[in-house]
Amino acid sequence: MRITTLIVIAVILIAIIGVAIVIELAPMYQSSKKVLRVGTSPDFPPFEYIDNKTGEVVGIDIDLVKALAKKLGYDVQIIQMDFDGLIPALINKQIDIIASGMTITNERAQVVAFTIPYWRSDQAIVVRRGSSFKPMGLDDLVGRTVGVQSGTTAQDLLQKYVNSTGKQINIKIYTSYVLAVQDLENGNVDAVVIDSPVASMFERIRNVNITAVIPTNESYGLAVRKEDTALLNQLNNALKEFLNTTDWQAILQKYLGV
Ligand code: ARG
Repeated sequence: MRITTLIVIAVILIAIIGVAIVIELAPMYQSSKKVLRVGTSPDFPPFEYIDNKTGEVVGIDIDLVKALAKKLGYDVQIIQMDFDGLIPALINKQIDIIASGMTITNERAQVVAFTIPYWRSDQAIVVRRGSSFKPMGLDDLVGRTVGVQSGTTAQDLLQKYVNSTGKQINIKIYTSYVLAVQDLENGNVDAVVIDSPVASMFERIRNVNITAVIPTNESYGLAVRKEDTALLNQLNNALKEFLNTTDWQAILQKYLGV
């Protein structure tokens, strides 16, 4: 065999080995795309809830965080947990971001970092549909049993009312708002206090009615660890841009029908 033939064969072999290595390693590079672990409490339609048909967690927050992650080149893993476990899980690094209709409060901002707001909300009082009990404000809840989700601003609102007035409300604390609303339908509590946009959705899909809105002027933000300043900046930039897009309008249209 001539030396040139040998060289040609060697070059072809090296090329084949090269291609084989690239094919072998490609999936590794793909899966090395960083995964954002997103914590949420899916009992809060239309922001996060379980789709009855697929069993998947869906909602405005989920689509929002997926859109932002896509823009920033992250993969997303949704991790469900109770609302009151979200901040501890973030701090303990079991999740990287909270997307759960979480109100930006001074207290929480001591321990986590919030993005710019993406939604605003008040609190609402809901009762069983057709109930003769029609509370128009917190005063009307005195002496009653009222459901809230653990660790929420609704729980805080009731607790502060009780502490500051010395009056008594029997606050029943649930791990999930779905359970609280179920208990309301079943007559086990007299009312539930919950964020107004979620109250409106429960009014559409469950046997409950809003009787009053308490203006608390809350804003929702995504939350990350305080030390994750690079991630926070990325999210803020992406969010600022995204809130002006038709993609955001499409998400709202999908979940709110507006
Ligand atoms: N906005 C309220 C808060 O931050 C309630 C949020 C509840 N979220 C949920 N996914 N269950 O306390």
